[in-house]
Amino acid sequence: MTEFKRFRCRRADEAARLKHRETFLSAADFIWPVFLVEGMGIRQAVPSMPGVCRYSADRALKELEKLVRKGLRSVILFGVPKKKGVEQAYRRDGIVQRSIRAVKERFPALEIISDVCVCSYTPTGHCHIGDNDRTCELLAEVALSHAEAGADCVAPSDMMDGRVLHIKRRLRENRLGRVRIMSYAAKYASGFYGPFRDAAECAPKSGDRKSYQMDPANREEAMEEIRADLEEGADSVIVKPALPYLDVIYQAKRAFPCPVIAYNVSGEYAMVLALSGGLRESVPLMEETLVSIKRAGADRIITYFAPAALEMLNEKK
Ligand code: PBG
Repeated sequence: MTEFKRFRCRRADEAARLKHRETFLSAADFIWPVFLVEGMGIRQAVPSMPGVCRYSADRALKELEKLVRKGLRSVILFGVPKKKGVEQAYRRDGIVQRSIRAVKERFPALEIISDVCVCSYTPTGHCHIGDNDRTCELLAEVALSHAEAGADCVAPSDMMDGRVLHIKRRLRENRLGRVRIMSYAAKYASGFYGPFRDAAECAPKSGDRKSYQMDPANREEAMEEIRADLEEGADSVIVKPALPYLDVIYQAKRAFPCPVIAYNVSGEYAMVLALSGGLRESVPLMEETLVSIKRAGADRIITYFAPAALEMLNEKK
């Protein structure tokens, strides 16, 4: 009989476990999604996402103050406008554009990513205005308005074909070629976006998003989507959601040299909170979730857990 291998000595105590650990979380891993509403002094809880709020720009700055001190390096901004209408999406004084300016001024070193989509602005709640290519023109206009306000990076989340190319050209024509593009390249038609649609008021009025977001059954197609976006000029790509698509993250990281960003979406957040029963109790499940996403190959994670994760890392220090 051959000698058997002993694994348990590697797990005997925390020092041993630490020595054998393969994956570590750090503050720079997290990108915090912020929902912005018009007005002043507003901090509204999102009922479907315990611990998550919508902020007016001034209150968002206050919140960021704390988080930047704890090591937050990057935010992604979502606008929730009072008035619907796609022209609201590229107004120079729109909610996102004004917030970008305020955040940039206060935190010059914080990376500002802006979500580029029109689903919070269209009366239909869809991410397009009917025609694919006309939607791309519109998205380029929205991206340009964010870039002019000072965004470091724009993140198109609509899943129209060719939008990265349209945005890239538009930015270059306006001497804003330095602004990065992080595309939602592999975004699936998922049931895990429910709570976000409450927060961003962007649920489609009729139908679903299956004619533009990807079929959950496809992985090779995700590689094609990613390749196309990189060829059009994306600097980094998002796989979304994260947990049901860890295989896609794993394959994307092996196949492409660019940063692969995982979006740990609203439904995944709500699921972890529901299982653990509260914010405080959710820490172990949160850590396991975030580590698993990173282990799969994600370079960065967009997550509503960012504040709690930073808190956890600061406490461990
Ligand atoms: C809008 C958008 C969605 C999310 C990010 N941008 C919703 C959707 O496509 O329906 C989902 C984020 C989340 O669930 O946390 N284009």
